[in-house]
Amino acid sequence: MKHLIDIMDLSIEELDEMIDVAKDIIADPEKYAHKCAGKKLATLFFEPSTRTRLSFEAAMYELGGNVLGFSEAQSSSAAKGESVSDTIRTVGCYADIIAMRHPKEGAPIAGTRRSTVPVINAGDGGHNHPTQTLTDLLTISREKGRLDHLTIGLCGDLKFGRTVHSLINAMSRYTGNRFVLISPEELKIPEYLRYETLIKKEQDFVETGDLEGAMPELDILYMTRVQRERFFNEQDYLRLKDSYILTPDKLEYAKEDLSILHPLPRVNEISVAVDDDPRARYFEQVRNGKYIRMALILKLLKEAGTIN
Ligand code: NCD
Repeated sequence: MKHLIDIMDLSIEELDEMIDVAKDIIADPEKYAHKCAGKKLATLFFEPSTRTRLSFEAAMYELGGNVLGFSEAQSSSAAKGESVSDTIRTVGCYADIIAMRHPKEGAPIAGTRRSTVPVINAGDGGHNHPTQTLTDLLTISREKGRLDHLTIGLCGDLKFGRTVHSLINAMSRYTGNRFVLISPEELKIPEYLRYETLIKKEQDFVETGDLEGAMPELDILYMTRVQRERFFNEQDYLRLKDSYILTPDKLEYAKEDLSILHPLPRVNEISVAVDDDPRARYFEQVRNGKYIRMALILKLLKEAGTIN
């Protein structure tokens, strides 16, 4: 049974194929409108979400399928002490595919062990968020026409930001990319990522605290929110939350064809005044999230033999 827990579960060929399918869906949505007729997606969200859950639901509806699920742990049997594994096994009796989000790192893997249907990790704690990365890859591919030879600035909470971790892993597989990691000292990327992905695989990367200094060389600027819910104390969060605020004046020395991305939700790390800049692409990125999730649902259901 093929699941999607980590972006590295997919080969480059599979990533490219899904991006192509998503582009085809954008070009001809009618062709896909009944592909999942009679099939059900369950969304099990033990942690809050707007985009991820709703884009999964919208994706399944646009494929002609149906959706069931819950959006907070308190309304599920987790509140009675049920294990993730039992919840998944149970839901697999009702649904053909499951998307789950959980505050604990590794929970989706535990959930897949006895699962009879494909499970998609829709975010596990501060660890991974592979479907946001699929969204980011489709966006970069549509914006830039390629996924290689790009200078990507990642700015903000690189320590707890799971979208950052998955995106670095994915982009490091394409040749010639350069990573500019912009964060306060306390929010630098985790050691395992620096060592396993960047150093061991001989990636071109720098770590800096200076957003404006880095700006002129960037093709992509990926802003992130400081992840309040993952801090151990509120004082640290308050001290670090406004480390970077992207305003129009900071874009003065940016490339004309820079793409500004953000997984959203934004707090105040991008001023709303930036939204009118043609380089602000984060709401287009939201739209792409639905199409790539449609491609993912199709792929996993095909591999499970549920659709043909
Ligand atoms: C991200 C997440 O949940 O990690 N949101 C999302 O899925 N688009 C980013 C965030 O919460 O900051």
